[in-house]
Amino acid sequence: MQKPQIKPRIPNFSSGPCAKRPGYDVSQLDLSSLGRSHRSALGKKILGACCAETARILGLPSNYRVAIVPASDTGAVEMTMWSMLGARGVDMLAWESFGSGWVTDVMKQLKLPNARKLEAGYGDIVDLSQVNFDNDVVFTWNGTTSGVRVPNGDWIPDDRKGLTICDATSAVFAMELPWEKLDVVTYSWQKVLGGEGAHGMLILGPRAVERLESYSPPWPMPKIFRMTSGGKLNESLFKGDTINTPSMLCAADYLDALQWCESVGGVKGTIARSQANLKVIEDFVAAHPWISFLAKDPETRSNTSVCLLLDLAEDKVKAMLKLLEAEGVAYDIGAYKDAPAGIRIWCGATVEKSDLEALMPWLAWGYAQVQ
Ligand SMILES: Cc1ncc(COP(=O)(O)O)c(C=O)c1O
Repeated sequence: MQKPQIKPRIPNFSSGPCAKRPGYDVSQLDLSSLGRSHRSALGKKILGACCAETARILGLPSNYRVAIVPASDTGAVEMTMWSMLGARGVDMLAWESFGSGWVTDVMKQLKLPNARKLEAGYGDIVDLSQVNFDNDVVFTWNGTTSGVRVPNGDWIPDDRKGLTICDATSAVFAMELPWEKLDVVTYSWQKVLGGEGAHGMLILGPRAVERLESYSPPWPMPKIFRMTSGGKLNESLFKGDTINTPSMLCAADYLDALQWCESVGGVKGTIARSQANLKVIEDFVAAHPWISFLAKDPETRSNTSVCLLLDLAEDKVKAMLKLLEAEGVAYDIGAYKDAPAGIRIWCGATVEKSDLEALMPWLAWGYAQVQ
């Protein structure tokens, strides 16, 4: 087989940190806040804008709040679980590594007595009709390590008693989210908009705030997780008054990413870009019998972290990935360490469709080389 002539212009297909937006230029960031206090008027204005612009561009309901919190998406999920769980039973849903990590937190660290696990293996999803919404429910919208997502929010009732706590880090800005059905949503800048790690975004609906103000868990709460003071929500946290010091460089980078999102048509535009990217892979898979989606049901197929199985032994997959990396055509596309051997290609909004189109012949070439 002939070596393809065209290489992806940007060969960055990692599932996080993800490719920077097209045209990204670090020297173009507004760095006026560097070297200044994050508590200065300027610092607060920039951090407040990160929250307010997020709410505006995502089209959040007016009674939803947005905060920047420490420790990336993990920080946002864990501060939520530590702050809100224990008031009622909890259903923990997992079908890949990150969801399983939250199960471990609840079972082994928080040791909640009324916790129920609903788990499925890589490629599958749990039976969503079995979820008990009298309980709180913790789940991942898009399982980044298996490329399996919930198909929609229809399975979540409007009159639920428990809270829905959704880790949507590889979904926000790439998938339609039914905000009113989600009481807590978390994500990190490093995913769909190609921002930086380290900071988490925490979106709270009114029912989550009500929980925070009416329930105080029996365990100690580190300062870094505290969202209330004297039983009242710390409202300033949701205006950019962060718990501790954030990176103002990362904040500037995030505002740049949000501006880019608007320039491509807002969240509708970023969703469309991601879906068009998935289509490139779907067409390739349909034409090649040796490659298939790990997600068994097309309804649950991720349009961001696209996980693929090859009919190759693990060592051959590794050899193929090495070849593609050496050719400078695909970086970081190996399956997650705990997932079945295969490849994972990020199709989020910052990846150019033309780069995926250029990558596909290289996959065929790499496969032929190692076979
Ligand atoms: C579904 C999911 N949850 C949590 C995380 C952890 O994110 P972070 O490293 O931003 O804390 C990731 C990272 O890939 C993820 O995909």
